Amino acid sequence: MNEIIRAIEERSSTRGYTPEMLTEEEIKVIENAALASPTAVNRQEWCFSLIGKEIIDELEKTQLALSLKDADEETKKRLESRGMKVLYNAPFMVVISADKNFGWSKVDAGIAVENIALAAQGLGLGSVIIGCIGAIFQSEEKERFEKLLKFPEGYEFAVAIAIGHKATEKAPHEKKPEKIVRLF
Ligand SMILES: Cc1cc2nc3c(=O)[nH]c(=O)nc-3n(C[C@H](O)[C@H](O)[C@H](O)COP(=O)(O)O)c2cc1C
Repeated sequence: MNEIIRAIEERSSTRGYTPEMLTEEEIKVIENAALASPTAVNRQEWCFSLIGKEIIDELEKTQLALSLKDADEETKKRLESRGMKVLYNAPFMVVISADKNFGWSKVDAGIAVENIALAAQGLGLGSVIIGCIGAIFQSEEKERFEKLLKFPEGYEFAVAIAIGHKATEKAPHEKKPEKIVRLF
């Protein structure tokens, strides 16, 4: 099978990582995958904040507290099943921010995050796209983290991705063929 098709077919979310950091070479591949992403009108109105353990731990602590505040039983169970971790001990993350005032910037961020996920897959690394930390940017911690992550002026949180060496395995999700509608 073609390598790109295989990466698309075999990628799945990894929710457990070893402490091993990515190499500089691997980080460069991730950076290039991000920057190679297509954007509407080639505006490139995104910014990729690359973070390691120190800031990841800050995000983890803050997000876990927010997730537990007012959590229903289902949320608590999900968190317990994930070892009370929302970022799964990942050693490395990319947080994508995007221009608040550009209508396509969230779509562009989504495309970039999948480019990064496929690059990680190609490197034999695990990844999981992270939306839950969006709650931090709806909370009173918003400004502190926007500063910490060095979001450019006028940019807001779009999506993030955790990357690292897999400590757990998960099969790709089940496909729903009925979601395809052929009209030819
Ligand atoms: C926009 C977006 C946000 C997501 N946010 C989270 C998240 O915060 N935490 C998490 O564990 N998984 C998150 N995921 C991963 C999805 O749960 C996962 O992609 C889905 O269950 C399908 O499984 P697969 O990635 O293994 O195919 C997110 C995925 C997307 C596309």
